[in-house]
Amino acid sequence: MNFVLLLLGLVGVARGYRILVVFPLPSRSHYILGNGVGRGLANAGHDVTVIAPYEDKNAPKNYKNVVLTGVEDALWKGEAKEKFNPVENGKVHPWFTMLFVLNFMGNHMIEKVLGHPNFQKVLKEQFDVVIVEQFRNDAMKALGCHFNAPLIMVSSVGVHTWVVADTGSPIPPSYVPDMSLSYTSDMNLLERGFNLLTQLVYYLNSYLLFYPAQKAVAQKYFPKCANNELIISNVSLYFINSHESTNEPVPAAPNMVNIGGYHISPPKELPADLKTFLDNAKEGVVYFSMGSNIKFSELGPEVTQAIVRAFKKIKQKVLWKYDGDELPGKPGNVKIAKWFPQADILAHPNVKLFITHGGLLSTLETIYHGVPVLTLPVFGDQRLNAARTEIFGYGLAIDFFELNEENFSDAIEKMLSDPKYFNTAKKRSVLFHDRPMKPVDSLVYWTEYIARHRGAPHLKVAGFNLPWYKYFLVDVIVVFVLLPVLLLYLLVKKLCSKASKRGQKKNKSD
Ligand SMILES: *[C@@H]1O[C@H](CO)[C@@H](O)[C@H](O)[C@H]1NC(C)=O
Ligand SMILES: *[C@@H]1O[C@H](CO)[C@@H](O)[C@H](O)[C@H]1NC(C)=O
Repeated sequence: MNFVLLLLGLVGVARGYRILVVFPLPSRSHYILGNGVGRGLANAGHDVTVIAPYEDKNAPKNYKNVVLTGVEDALWKGEAKEKFNPVENGKVHPWFTMLFVLNFMGNHMIEKVLGHPNFQKVLKEQFDVVIVEQFRNDAMKALGCHFNAPLIMVSSVGVHTWVVADTGSPIPPSYVPDMSLSYTSDMNLLERGFNLLTQLVYYLNSYLLFYPAQKAVAQKYFPKCANNELIISNVSLYFINSHESTNEPVPAAPNMVNIGGYHISPPKELPADLKTFLDNAKEGVVYFSMGSNIKFSELGPEVTQAIVRAFKKIKQKVLWKYDGDELPGKPGNVKIAKWFPQADILAHPNVKLFITHGGLLSTLETIYHGVPVLTLPVFGDQRLNAARTEIFGYGLAIDFFELNEENFSDAIEKMLSDPKYFNTAKKRSVLFHDRPMKPVDSLVYWTEYIARHRGAPHLKVAGFNLPWYKYFLVDVIVVFVLLPVLLLYLLVKKLCSKASKRGQKKNKSD
Protein backbone atom coordinates (compact mmCIF):
# COMPACT_ATOMS: atom_id res chain seq x y z
CA MET A 1 0.00 0.00 0.00
CA ASN A 2 2.76 2.39 1.01
CA PHE A 3 4.59 1.37 -2.09
CA VAL A 4 1.59 2.28 -4.24
CA LEU A 5 1.30 5.66 -2.53
CA LEU A 6 4.98 6.27 -3.03
CA LEU A 7 4.65 5.35 -6.68
CA LEU A 8 1.66 7.65 -7.10
CA GLY A 9 3.64 10.41 -5.42
CA LEU A 10 6.56 9.89 -7.76
CA VAL A 11 4.32 9.88 -10.81
CA GLY A 12 2.77 13.11 -9.53
CA VAL A 13 6.15 14.73 -9.13
CA ALA A 14 7.36 13.50 -12.48
CA ARG A 15 4.26 14.80 -14.24
CA GLY A 16 3.49 18.03 -12.48
CA TYR A 17 5.19 21.18 -13.70
CA ARG A 18 5.09 24.45 -11.77
CA ILE A 19 3.22 26.81 -14.04
CA LEU A 20 2.60 30.53 -13.63
CA VAL A 21 -0.46 31.93 -15.42
CA VAL A 22 -0.83 35.74 -15.58
CA PHE A 23 -4.11 37.24 -16.85
CA PRO A 24 -3.95 40.76 -15.39
CA LEU A 25 -6.85 42.50 -17.17
CA PRO A 26 -9.72 43.49 -14.88
CA SER A 27 -12.36 42.23 -17.26
CA ARG A 28 -14.57 39.22 -16.56
CA SER A 29 -14.27 37.76 -20.02
CA HIS A 30 -10.48 37.90 -20.00
CA TYR A 31 -10.52 36.36 -16.54
CA ILE A 32 -12.71 33.48 -17.74
CA LEU A 33 -9.98 32.69 -20.27
CA GLY A 34 -7.20 32.86 -17.68
CA ASN A 35 -9.20 30.75 -15.28
CA GLY A 36 -9.75 28.24 -18.10
CA VAL A 37 -5.98 28.00 -18.68
CA GLY A 38 -5.35 27.55 -14.95
CA ARG A 39 -8.05 24.95 -14.48
CA GLY A 40 -7.15 23.02 -17.60
CA LEU A 41 -3.54 22.68 -16.45
CA ALA A 42 -4.39 22.03 -12.79
CA ASN A 43 -6.84 19.28 -13.77
CA ALA A 44 -4.03 17.71 -15.77
CA GLY A 45 -1.99 17.44 -12.55
CA HIS A 46 0.22 20.52 -12.68
CA ASP A 47 0.90 22.99 -9.89
CA VAL A 48 -0.64 26.16 -11.17
CA THR A 49 -0.42 29.70 -9.80
CA VAL A 50 -2.91 32.09 -11.41
CA ILE A 51 -2.36 35.85 -11.05
CA ALA A 52 -5.57 37.71 -11.89
CA PRO A 53 -7.82 40.44 -10.49
CA TYR A 54 -10.42 37.85 -9.44
CA GLU A 55 -10.47 34.70 -7.37
CA ASP A 56 -11.68 31.21 -8.25
CA LYS A 57 -13.34 30.22 -5.00
CA ASN A 58 -13.87 26.61 -6.11
CA ALA A 59 -10.42 26.14 -7.56
CA PRO A 60 -8.96 22.62 -7.79
CA LYS A 61 -6.48 21.98 -4.99
CA ASN A 62 -3.30 22.41 -7.04
CA TYR A 63 -4.58 25.75 -8.38
CA LYS A 64 -3.34 28.70 -6.36
CA ASN A 65 -5.12 32.07 -6.61
CA VAL A 66 -3.00 35.21 -6.44
CA VAL A 67 -5.53 38.02 -6.50
CA LEU A 68 -4.57 41.48 -7.75
CA THR A 69 -6.78 43.29 -5.28
CA GLY A 70 -7.74 46.83 -6.20
CA VAL A 71 -6.59 46.57 -9.81
CA GLU A 72 -10.19 46.52 -10.97
CA ASP A 73 -10.81 49.90 -9.36
CA ALA A 74 -7.60 51.25 -10.86
CA LEU A 75 -9.08 50.76 -14.33
CA TRP A 76 -12.78 51.28 -13.84
CA LYS A 77 -12.77 54.19 -11.39
CA GLY A 78 -11.39 57.75 -11.46
CA GLU A 79 -9.13 59.09 -14.21
CA ALA A 80 -8.92 55.80 -16.07
CA LYS A 81 -12.65 55.25 -16.17
CA GLU A 82 -13.12 58.43 -18.18
CA LYS A 83 -10.64 57.25 -20.76
CA PHE A 84 -11.65 53.64 -20.78
CA ASN A 85 -15.39 53.81 -21.11
CA PRO A 86 -16.14 51.06 -23.63
CA VAL A 87 -19.45 52.56 -24.71
CA GLU A 88 -17.81 55.88 -25.56
CA ASN A 89 -14.88 54.09 -27.15
CA GLY A 90 -17.17 52.21 -29.47
CA LYS A 91 -18.15 55.50 -31.07
CA VAL A 92 -14.68 56.76 -31.92
CA HIS A 93 -12.30 55.78 -34.69
CA PRO A 94 -10.47 52.48 -34.00
CA TRP A 95 -7.10 54.20 -34.50
CA PHE A 96 -7.97 56.57 -31.70
CA THR A 97 -8.81 53.62 -29.45
CA MET A 98 -5.52 51.94 -30.27
CA LEU A 99 -3.29 55.02 -30.01
CA PHE A 100 -4.85 56.67 -27.00
CA VAL A 101 -7.10 54.33 -25.07
CA LEU A 102 -5.16 51.05 -25.32
CA ASN A 103 -1.73 52.67 -24.99
CA PHE A 104 -2.95 54.53 -21.94
CA MET A 105 -4.60 51.45 -20.46
CA GLY A 106 -1.53 49.27 -21.04
CA ASN A 107 0.91 51.74 -19.51
CA HIS A 108 -1.43 52.64 -16.66
CA MET A 109 -2.08 49.00 -15.73
CA ILE A 110 1.39 47.54 -16.05
CA GLU A 111 2.84 49.29 -13.00
CA LYS A 112 -0.30 48.66 -10.97
CA VAL A 113 0.13 44.95 -11.69
CA LEU A 114 3.92 44.49 -11.52
CA GLY A 115 4.22 46.67 -8.44
CA HIS A 116 1.35 44.92 -6.65
CA PRO A 117 2.56 43.35 -3.38
CA ASN A 118 0.94 40.01 -4.23
CA PHE A 119 2.69 39.99 -7.60
CA GLN A 120 6.01 40.93 -6.01
CA LYS A 121 5.75 37.93 -3.66
CA VAL A 122 5.31 35.55 -6.57
CA LEU A 123 8.47 36.91 -8.18
CA LYS A 124 10.48 35.13 -5.47
CA GLU A 125 9.10 31.70 -6.43
CA GLN A 126 10.22 29.36 -9.19
CA PHE A 127 8.37 28.10 -12.24
CA ASP A 128 8.94 25.75 -15.14
CA VAL A 129 6.73 27.62 -17.60
CA VAL A 130 5.22 31.11 -17.62
CA ILE A 131 1.96 31.79 -19.47
CA VAL A 132 0.88 35.42 -19.96
CA GLU A 133 -2.12 36.91 -21.68
CA GLN A 134 -1.00 39.20 -24.50
CA PHE A 135 -2.92 42.43 -24.17
CA ARG A 136 -0.87 45.60 -24.21
CA ASN A 137 1.37 44.39 -21.37
CA ASP A 138 4.60 43.63 -23.22
CA ALA A 139 6.82 44.43 -20.23
CA MET A 140 5.55 41.18 -18.73
CA LYS A 141 7.40 39.22 -21.36
CA ALA A 142 10.45 39.78 -19.15
CA LEU A 143 8.93 37.23 -16.75
CA GLY A 144 10.32 34.39 -18.87
CA CYS A 145 13.84 35.69 -18.35
CA HIS A 146 13.16 36.54 -14.69
CA PHE A 147 12.16 32.96 -13.87
CA ASN A 148 14.57 31.51 -16.40
CA ALA A 149 11.60 29.64 -17.80
CA PRO A 150 10.13 29.46 -21.30
CA LEU A 151 7.36 31.95 -22.01
CA ILE A 152 4.00 31.19 -23.61
CA MET A 153 1.64 34.00 -24.59
CA VAL A 154 -2.11 33.71 -25.04
CA SER A 155 -3.89 35.87 -27.58
CA SER A 156 -7.45 36.20 -26.35
CA VAL A 157 -8.61 37.90 -29.54
CA GLY A 158 -7.17 35.77 -32.34
CA VAL A 159 -4.33 36.63 -34.71
CA HIS A 160 -3.37 40.27 -35.05
CA THR A 161 -0.33 42.50 -35.41
CA TRP A 162 0.67 42.04 -31.74
CA VAL A 163 1.04 38.31 -32.28
CA VAL A 164 2.88 38.33 -35.56
CA ALA A 165 5.41 40.82 -34.19
CA ASP A 166 6.58 38.00 -31.86
CA THR A 167 6.29 35.05 -34.22
CA GLY A 168 7.26 36.35 -37.65
CA SER A 169 4.08 34.80 -39.06
CA PRO A 170 2.62 36.56 -42.11
CA ILE A 171 -0.57 38.58 -41.78
CA PRO A 172 -1.37 39.59 -45.37
CA PRO A 173 -3.35 42.83 -45.37
CA SER A 174 -4.94 41.67 -48.63
CA TYR A 175 -7.19 39.19 -46.86
CA VAL A 176 -6.60 39.27 -43.06
CA PRO A 177 -8.65 42.19 -41.72
CA ASP A 178 -7.42 43.94 -38.59
CA MET A 179 -9.41 43.01 -35.51
CA SER A 180 -10.51 46.60 -34.91
CA LEU A 181 -12.17 46.93 -38.33
CA SER A 182 -15.40 45.32 -39.41
CA TYR A 183 -14.05 43.84 -42.64
CA THR A 184 -14.01 40.19 -43.61
CA SER A 185 -11.46 38.41 -45.80
CA ASP A 186 -13.35 39.68 -48.86
CA MET A 187 -12.24 43.33 -49.01
CA ASN A 188 -12.63 45.79 -51.86
CA LEU A 189 -9.82 48.08 -53.04
CA LEU A 190 -10.62 50.84 -50.56
CA GLU A 191 -10.91 48.42 -47.65
CA ARG A 192 -7.63 46.68 -48.48
CA GLY A 193 -5.94 50.06 -48.63
CA PHE A 194 -7.35 51.09 -45.29
CA ASN A 195 -6.54 47.71 -43.77
CA LEU A 196 -2.90 48.05 -44.87
CA LEU A 197 -2.74 51.58 -43.48
CA THR A 198 -4.26 50.40 -40.19
CA GLN A 199 -1.66 47.65 -39.85
CA LEU A 200 1.10 50.17 -40.54
CA VAL A 201 -0.25 52.63 -38.00
CA TYR A 202 -0.50 49.88 -35.37
CA TYR A 203 3.05 48.63 -36.05
CA LEU A 204 4.44 52.14 -35.88
CA ASN A 205 2.52 52.76 -32.68
CA SER A 206 3.93 49.58 -31.14
CA TYR A 207 7.54 50.11 -32.15
CA LEU A 208 7.75 53.89 -31.70
CA LEU A 209 5.45 54.52 -28.74
CA PHE A 210 4.22 51.48 -26.90
CA TYR A 211 7.19 49.11 -26.72
CA PRO A 212 9.64 51.82 -25.58
CA ALA A 213 7.27 52.75 -22.76
CA GLN A 214 6.85 49.11 -21.74
CA LYS A 215 10.56 48.48 -22.01
CA ALA A 216 11.20 51.28 -19.54
CA VAL A 217 8.83 49.58 -17.09
CA ALA A 218 10.49 46.20 -17.65
CA GLN A 219 13.88 47.80 -16.95
CA LYS A 220 12.56 49.17 -13.69
CA TYR A 221 11.14 45.87 -12.41
CA PHE A 222 13.49 43.38 -14.07
CA PRO A 223 16.77 45.26 -14.52
CA LYS A 224 18.64 42.11 -15.57
CA CYS A 225 16.03 41.06 -18.09
CA ALA A 226 15.18 44.03 -20.21
CA ASN A 227 18.49 44.85 -21.78
CA ASN A 228 17.92 43.50 -25.22
CA GLU A 229 15.00 43.32 -27.59
CA LEU A 230 15.31 39.56 -27.90
CA ILE A 231 14.50 38.96 -24.26
CA ILE A 232 11.45 41.15 -24.33
CA SER A 233 10.09 39.25 -27.30
CA ASN A 234 11.43 35.78 -26.52
CA VAL A 235 8.11 33.98 -26.81
CA SER A 236 8.27 30.19 -27.19
CA LEU A 237 4.66 29.58 -28.14
CA TYR A 238 1.44 31.44 -28.78
CA PHE A 239 -1.94 30.06 -27.85
CA ILE A 240 -4.59 31.60 -30.09
CA ASN A 241 -8.11 31.73 -28.75
CA SER A 242 -9.77 31.05 -32.07
CA HIS A 243 -10.81 28.22 -34.37
CA GLU A 244 -11.60 27.82 -38.07
CA SER A 245 -15.21 27.06 -37.26
CA THR A 246 -15.69 30.57 -35.84
CA ASN A 247 -12.89 32.59 -37.45
CA GLU A 248 -11.80 32.79 -41.05
CA PRO A 249 -8.64 30.71 -41.50
CA VAL A 250 -5.38 32.71 -41.40
CA PRO A 251 -1.76 31.66 -41.84
CA ALA A 252 -0.05 30.63 -38.61
CA ALA A 253 3.58 29.81 -37.86
CA PRO A 254 4.16 26.40 -36.18
CA ASN A 255 4.50 28.09 -32.78
CA MET A 256 0.93 29.42 -32.97
CA VAL A 257 -1.61 26.92 -31.70
CA ASN A 258 -5.37 27.38 -32.00
CA ILE A 259 -7.14 26.45 -28.78
CA GLY A 260 -10.41 28.36 -29.27
CA GLY A 261 -13.15 26.92 -27.07
CA TYR A 262 -10.83 25.49 -24.38
CA HIS A 263 -12.56 27.55 -21.68
CA ILE A 264 -15.96 25.95 -22.29
CA SER A 265 -16.91 23.09 -19.97
CA PRO A 266 -19.59 20.58 -20.89
CA PRO A 267 -23.01 21.94 -19.82
CA LYS A 268 -24.19 21.52 -16.24
CA GLU A 269 -27.70 21.11 -14.85
CA LEU A 270 -29.61 24.43 -14.88
CA PRO A 271 -31.05 25.92 -11.67
CA ALA A 272 -34.63 24.64 -11.21
CA ASP A 273 -36.45 27.91 -12.05
CA LEU A 274 -34.49 28.44 -15.25
CA LYS A 275 -34.91 24.81 -16.25
CA THR A 276 -38.68 25.05 -15.90
CA PHE A 277 -38.71 28.34 -17.81
CA LEU A 278 -36.72 26.84 -20.69
CA ASP A 279 -38.43 23.42 -20.71
CA ASN A 280 -41.87 25.05 -20.89
CA ALA A 281 -40.99 27.47 -23.69
CA LYS A 282 -42.69 25.53 -26.48
CA GLU A 283 -42.17 28.37 -28.99
CA GLY A 284 -38.51 28.66 -28.09
CA VAL A 285 -36.35 31.09 -26.14
CA VAL A 286 -34.29 34.13 -27.10
CA TYR A 287 -31.28 34.66 -24.85
CA PHE A 288 -30.09 38.28 -24.66
CA SER A 289 -26.84 39.33 -23.01
CA MET A 290 -24.55 42.26 -23.74
CA GLY A 291 -21.82 40.98 -21.43
CA SER A 292 -20.69 42.94 -18.42
CA ASN A 293 -19.71 46.25 -20.02
CA ILE A 294 -23.06 47.52 -21.23
CA LYS A 295 -25.14 48.83 -18.34
CA PHE A 296 -28.72 49.28 -19.51
CA SER A 297 -29.58 51.10 -16.32
CA GLU A 298 -27.01 53.81 -17.23
CA LEU A 299 -27.82 54.00 -20.94
CA GLY A 300 -30.94 56.09 -20.90
CA PRO A 301 -34.40 54.81 -21.72
CA GLU A 302 -34.53 55.11 -25.53
CA VAL A 303 -32.49 52.04 -26.43
CA THR A 304 -33.86 49.97 -23.57
CA GLN A 305 -37.47 50.81 -24.42
CA ALA A 306 -36.93 50.08 -28.12
CA ILE A 307 -35.72 46.64 -27.09
CA VAL A 308 -38.65 46.16 -24.69
CA ARG A 309 -41.18 46.98 -27.44
CA ALA A 310 -39.46 44.62 -29.88
CA PHE A 311 -39.57 41.74 -27.36
CA LYS A 312 -43.23 42.42 -26.62
CA LYS A 313 -44.06 41.55 -30.23
CA ILE A 314 -42.58 38.04 -30.34
CA LYS A 315 -44.17 34.79 -29.19
CA GLN A 316 -40.88 33.35 -27.92
CA LYS A 317 -39.82 33.75 -24.31
CA VAL A 318 -36.82 35.96 -23.58
CA LEU A 319 -34.03 35.73 -20.99
CA TRP A 320 -32.39 39.15 -20.65
CA LYS A 321 -29.19 39.71 -18.67
CA TYR A 322 -30.18 43.11 -17.28
CA ASP A 323 -28.08 44.98 -14.72
CA GLY A 324 -30.87 47.08 -13.12
CA ASP A 325 -33.33 45.98 -10.45
CA GLU A 326 -36.38 46.88 -12.41
CA LEU A 327 -37.16 47.00 -16.10
CA PRO A 328 -39.94 49.54 -16.78
CA GLY A 329 -42.64 48.08 -19.01
CA LYS A 330 -41.24 44.55 -18.81
CA PRO A 331 -43.38 42.30 -21.05
CA GLY A 332 -44.77 39.04 -19.64
CA ASN A 333 -42.59 36.84 -21.86
CA VAL A 334 -39.37 38.41 -20.57
CA LYS A 335 -37.38 37.22 -17.56
CA ILE A 336 -34.53 39.43 -16.35
CA ALA A 337 -31.57 38.63 -14.11
CA LYS A 338 -28.22 40.24 -13.37
CA TRP A 339 -26.45 37.01 -14.20
CA PHE A 340 -27.28 33.87 -16.15
CA PRO A 341 -25.30 30.63 -16.57
CA GLN A 342 -24.78 31.53 -20.23
CA ALA A 343 -23.14 28.36 -21.50
CA ASP A 344 -25.70 26.09 -19.81
CA ILE A 345 -28.55 28.14 -21.25
CA LEU A 346 -27.09 28.03 -24.76
CA ALA A 347 -26.93 24.25 -24.38
CA HIS A 348 -30.71 24.00 -23.91
CA PRO A 349 -32.47 22.72 -27.06
CA ASN A 350 -35.26 25.32 -26.80
CA VAL A 351 -32.87 28.26 -27.24
CA LYS A 352 -33.47 29.51 -30.80
CA LEU A 353 -31.50 32.75 -30.86
CA PHE A 354 -28.68 34.41 -28.94
CA ILE A 355 -28.52 38.23 -29.00
CA THR A 356 -25.02 39.31 -28.01
CA HIS A 357 -22.44 42.10 -28.19
CA GLY A 358 -20.28 39.66 -30.14
CA GLY A 359 -17.27 39.29 -27.85
CA LEU A 360 -15.07 36.41 -28.90
CA LEU A 361 -16.11 34.26 -25.92
CA SER A 362 -19.76 34.56 -26.82
CA THR A 363 -19.02 33.77 -30.45
CA LEU A 364 -17.14 30.63 -29.43
CA GLU A 365 -19.80 29.54 -26.95
CA THR A 366 -22.62 30.00 -29.41
CA ILE A 367 -20.90 27.82 -32.00
CA TYR A 368 -19.99 25.22 -29.39
CA HIS A 369 -23.75 24.84 -28.83
CA GLY A 370 -24.88 25.64 -32.37
CA VAL A 371 -27.13 28.64 -31.66
CA PRO A 372 -27.53 31.42 -34.29
CA VAL A 373 -26.60 34.97 -33.21
CA LEU A 374 -27.88 38.47 -33.68
CA THR A 375 -24.89 40.65 -32.85
CA LEU A 376 -25.10 44.22 -31.58
CA PRO A 377 -21.39 45.13 -31.65
CA VAL A 378 -20.14 47.94 -29.42
CA PHE A 379 -16.33 48.10 -29.59
CA GLY A 380 -13.03 46.30 -30.12
CA ASP A 381 -13.13 43.10 -32.12
CA GLN A 382 -16.92 42.82 -31.83
CA ARG A 383 -17.63 44.39 -35.23
CA LEU A 384 -15.26 41.95 -36.88
CA ASN A 385 -16.79 38.97 -35.06
CA ALA A 386 -20.23 40.20 -36.10
CA ALA A 387 -19.20 40.54 -39.73
CA ARG A 388 -17.90 36.96 -39.64
CA THR A 389 -21.18 35.53 -38.37
CA GLU A 390 -22.91 37.24 -41.29
CA ILE A 391 -20.62 35.84 -43.98
CA PHE A 392 -20.66 32.41 -42.36
CA GLY A 393 -24.46 32.59 -42.55
CA TYR A 394 -25.47 31.98 -38.93
CA GLY A 395 -25.88 35.58 -37.85
CA LEU A 396 -27.04 39.11 -38.52
CA ALA A 397 -25.62 42.31 -37.04
CA ILE A 398 -26.88 45.76 -36.14
CA ASP A 399 -24.42 48.29 -34.78
CA PHE A 400 -25.47 48.87 -31.16
CA PHE A 401 -25.49 52.63 -31.68
CA GLU A 402 -27.77 52.36 -34.72
CA LEU A 403 -30.27 50.07 -33.08
CA ASN A 404 -33.93 51.07 -33.15
CA GLU A 405 -37.16 49.20 -32.59
CA GLU A 406 -37.78 48.72 -36.28
CA ASN A 407 -34.52 47.19 -37.40
CA PHE A 408 -34.14 45.21 -34.16
CA SER A 409 -37.60 43.70 -34.63
CA ASP A 410 -36.96 42.99 -38.31
CA ALA A 411 -33.72 41.19 -37.55
CA ILE A 412 -35.25 39.04 -34.80
CA GLU A 413 -38.22 38.18 -37.00
CA LYS A 414 -35.98 37.24 -39.91
CA MET A 415 -33.70 35.05 -37.82
CA LEU A 416 -36.52 33.22 -36.07
CA SER A 417 -38.48 32.53 -39.24
CA ASP A 418 -35.71 31.54 -41.67
CA PRO A 419 -34.28 28.09 -40.72
CA LYS A 420 -31.06 28.88 -42.64
CA TYR A 421 -29.53 30.59 -39.60
CA PHE A 422 -30.26 27.74 -37.21
CA ASN A 423 -29.08 25.04 -39.61
CA THR A 424 -25.84 26.86 -40.43
CA ALA A 425 -25.09 27.34 -36.73
CA LYS A 426 -25.56 23.59 -36.21
CA LYS A 427 -23.22 22.80 -39.12
CA ARG A 428 -20.56 25.14 -37.74
CA SER A 429 -20.95 23.46 -34.37
CA VAL A 430 -20.16 20.08 -35.89
CA LEU A 431 -16.96 21.56 -37.38
CA PHE A 432 -16.12 23.09 -34.01
CA HIS A 433 -16.17 19.71 -32.28
CA ASP A 434 -14.40 17.73 -35.02
CA ARG A 435 -10.74 18.05 -33.97
CA PRO A 436 -7.85 15.63 -33.36
CA MET A 437 -7.99 16.51 -29.66
CA LYS A 438 -10.15 18.69 -27.47
CA PRO A 439 -8.87 22.28 -27.26
CA VAL A 440 -8.18 21.98 -23.53
CA ASP A 441 -6.09 18.84 -24.19
CA SER A 442 -4.22 20.80 -26.81
CA LEU A 443 -3.53 23.49 -24.20
CA VAL A 444 -2.12 20.87 -21.83
CA TYR A 445 -0.13 19.03 -24.49
CA TRP A 446 1.62 22.13 -25.83
CA THR A 447 2.34 23.58 -22.40
CA GLU A 448 3.97 20.28 -21.38
CA TYR A 449 5.82 20.22 -24.71
CA ILE A 450 7.30 23.66 -24.06
CA ALA A 451 8.22 22.66 -20.48
CA ARG A 452 9.78 19.37 -21.63
CA HIS A 453 11.96 20.99 -24.28
CA ARG A 454 12.64 24.16 -22.27
CA GLY A 455 11.35 26.40 -25.06
CA ALA A 456 10.89 25.80 -28.75
CA PRO A 457 13.29 27.84 -30.90
CA HIS A 458 12.94 25.05 -33.50
CA LEU A 459 9.32 26.12 -34.10
CA LYS A 460 10.15 29.73 -34.85
CA VAL A 461 10.05 30.77 -38.50
CA ALA A 462 13.19 32.54 -39.72
CA GLY A 463 11.05 35.51 -40.69
CA PHE A 464 11.04 36.51 -37.04
CA ASN A 465 14.74 37.43 -37.18
CA LEU A 466 14.73 39.19 -40.54
CA PRO A 467 14.83 42.97 -40.63
CA TRP A 468 11.74 44.38 -42.33
CA TYR A 469 13.45 45.30 -45.60
CA LYS A 470 14.58 41.70 -46.04
CA TYR A 471 11.24 40.27 -44.92
CA PHE A 472 9.38 42.32 -47.51
CA LEU A 473 12.14 41.75 -50.13
CA VAL A 474 12.78 45.46 -50.40
CA ASP A 475 16.48 44.74 -51.04
CA VAL A 476 15.60 42.28 -53.81
CA ILE A 477 13.23 44.72 -55.44
CA VAL A 478 15.85 47.47 -55.28
CA VAL A 479 18.69 45.35 -56.71
CA PHE A 480 16.79 43.30 -59.26
CA VAL A 481 14.01 45.63 -60.33
CA LEU A 482 14.66 49.28 -59.52
CA LEU A 483 18.40 49.23 -60.24
CA PRO A 484 18.11 47.55 -63.70
CA VAL A 485 15.28 49.90 -64.60
CA LEU A 486 17.39 52.88 -63.53
CA LEU A 487 20.41 51.62 -65.49
CA LEU A 488 18.29 51.00 -68.54
CA TYR A 489 16.86 54.49 -68.25
CA LEU A 490 20.31 56.05 -67.96
CA LEU A 491 21.57 54.01 -70.90
CA VAL A 492 18.64 54.98 -73.08
CA LYS A 493 19.01 58.63 -72.06
CA LYS A 494 22.72 58.58 -72.92
CA LEU A 495 22.08 56.97 -76.30
CA CYS A 496 19.34 59.45 -77.05
CA SER A 497 21.48 62.43 -76.16
CA LYS A 498 24.37 61.02 -78.25
CA ALA A 499 22.02 60.55 -81.15
CA SER A 500 20.65 64.07 -80.86
CA LYS A 501 24.19 65.55 -80.52
CA ARG A 502 25.19 63.71 -83.64
CA GLY A 503 22.09 65.13 -85.29
CA GLN A 504 23.05 68.67 -84.17
CA LYS A 505 26.63 68.25 -85.49
CA LYS A 506 25.25 67.05 -88.76
CA ASN A 507 22.96 70.07 -88.90
CA LYS A 508 25.87 72.48 -88.21
CA SER A 509 28.14 70.94 -90.81
CA ASP A 510 25.40 71.20 -93.42
C1 LIG B 1 14.68 32.53 -24.86
O1 LIG B 1 13.95 31.60 -24.09
C2 LIG B 1 14.49 30.30 -24.06
C3 LIG B 1 13.55 29.43 -23.30
O2 LIG B 1 13.39 29.87 -22.00
C4 LIG B 1 15.89 30.34 -23.45
O3 LIG B 1 16.46 29.06 -23.48
C5 LIG B 1 16.75 31.31 -24.24
O4 LIG B 1 18.02 31.44 -23.62
C6 LIG B 1 16.08 32.67 -24.33
N1 LIG B 1 16.87 33.52 -25.21
C7 LIG B 1 17.32 34.71 -24.81
C8 LIG B 1 18.13 35.47 -25.79
O5 LIG B 1 17.11 35.14 -23.71
C1 LIG C 1 -31.15 50.77 -38.08
O1 LIG C 1 -31.82 52.01 -38.07
C2 LIG C 1 -30.98 53.15 -37.98
C3 LIG C 1 -31.84 54.38 -37.81
O2 LIG C 1 -32.88 54.38 -38.74
C4 LIG C 1 -30.10 53.21 -39.22
O3 LIG C 1 -29.22 54.31 -39.12
C5 LIG C 1 -29.32 51.93 -39.34
O4 LIG C 1 -28.56 51.93 -40.53
C6 LIG C 1 -30.23 50.71 -39.29
N1 LIG C 1 -29.38 49.56 -39.25
C7 LIG C 1 -29.64 48.46 -39.95
C8 LIG C 1 -28.66 47.35 -39.83
O5 LIG C 1 -30.62 48.35 -40.65
